[in-house]
Amino acid sequence: MRSYKATMVDPIRLLPREDREAALRDAGFNVFNLDSADVFVDLLTDSGTGTMSNAQWAAMFRGDEAYAGSESFHELEAAVRDVMGFEHVVPAHQGRGAENVLYGSLVSEGDVVFNNAHFDTTRAHIAANGGDPVDCPVPEATDMDSDAPFKGNFDVETAREVVDDVGAENVPVVVLTITNNSMAGQPVSVANTREVAAFADEVDATFVIDACRFAENAHFVQRREPEFADASVAAIAREQLSYADACVMSGKKDGLVNVGGFVGLADRGDLYEQCRQRGILFEGFSTYGGMSGRDLAAFAVGLREAVDPPYVEERVAQVQALCEALDDRGVPVYQPAGGHAVYVNANEALPHIPRDQYPGQAFVCELYREGGVRAVELGRFAFPGTDRADLVRLAVPRRTYGPDHMEHVADTAAAVCERGEEVSGYEVVSEPSMPELRHFSAELRPLDEATPKSPPSQ
Ligand code: F0G
Repeated sequence: MRSYKATMVDPIRLLPREDREAALRDAGFNVFNLDSADVFVDLLTDSGTGTMSNAQWAAMFRGDEAYAGSESFHELEAAVRDVMGFEHVVPAHQGRGAENVLYGSLVSEGDVVFNNAHFDTTRAHIAANGGDPVDCPVPEATDMDSDAPFKGNFDVETAREVVDDVGAENVPVVVLTITNNSMAGQPVSVANTREVAAFADEVDATFVIDACRFAENAHFVQRREPEFADASVAAIAREQLSYADACVMSGKKDGLVNVGGFVGLADRGDLYEQCRQRGILFEGFSTYGGMSGRDLAAFAVGLREAVDPPYVEERVAQVQALCEALDDRGVPVYQPAGGHAVYVNANEALPHIPRDQYPGQAFVCELYREGGVRAVELGRFAFPGTDRADLVRLAVPRRTYGPDHMEHVADTAAAVCERGEEVSGYEVVSEPSMPELRHFSAELRPLDEATPKSPPSQ
């Protein structure tokens, strides 16, 4: 049951079908181009789309807007120390700002960076700095039915084999993303975290945790890793993060705010200094980093709320319930559910669409057409050149939608599956130059209406 009541509402409406059809067409069949007013249930992302608490709003009124030495920054620093255990904070406007600050300091031409799986912006930042992002998921990560408890884990053996080829001196940083967003939001165990920390040590690399969903991950550890069955989510989070030299954090997830981020560092060495200078250059002075004082204040409160047991239990349970509702209706979903999202397997839902015709994106378009539901493709369209499965992510914003909305989403997805055979594949008609960022702005066309290459003769 929800551990809060809502005293503010944000009206939403379901447009008539023909208006949804027109909106989708105007959007170039890319739901990133839709207006939110045209969306009924918005599961595009769990990032910055959640609901703040009254305590967060109250803190915003007290935000200290000083350029330097803001009280609100000190509140955030104190929260990061208490909740996450990092002594030093370089603030940034959001997670990718923090990625730019950290990876711009650590990665240079020809380097290799390991991650259990790079998120799109992470991959883009490594590539933009001349690095080669290498994913090291465990084999069970791609088995959508395996009920292994930690399918988000990092496969150290894969990384070791690459090190044998490229040499440890070319590996400046090893990243562990908790939970593993690009692998269906699956959690990472503390045992695996220790193993990755030891590996990073072995190759003399900085060990970074991408901590944006650290509280959800800690909840899974409590439920699935016997060593931690009696530990609190707060204690688990601190323990897991204690193995890292640094973290990158997007406050838009488990910071429970609409914007904000930071790099957290264990000590005040050279890396801290480099990040601080880079932060000043790209984000803003080192006591605000692109956030207003009120953003910093709300973030400080949100971090503490994220490890509150009633909050995090209900949060993960809501996602789990959506996964069950979809499964009950025969929609093929990745099992078990992730912490922040449910992932539909579009290759199974729309088996007649060849993989180079983007079945995941076809499913995303159909969800919108059918029920005004916005989701996101995280398959071959978002990650061109890979052979990953065509998953569609239904990401649930925190403290925002109720069970009736989730029922609507499940019914919509079931309706799409039911008339799946009528759904056509797509082709990309325009795309940006950076392939890592393709899905944000590319435009597509359904193949059943593609114009012939040469006009028919008169
Ligand atoms: N790292 C991970 C694992 C993420 O999921 C994200 C964002 C970022 C870094 C970047 O943070 O958005 O604050 O700049 N993920 C969002 C998503 C956008 O929809 O999953 P940001």
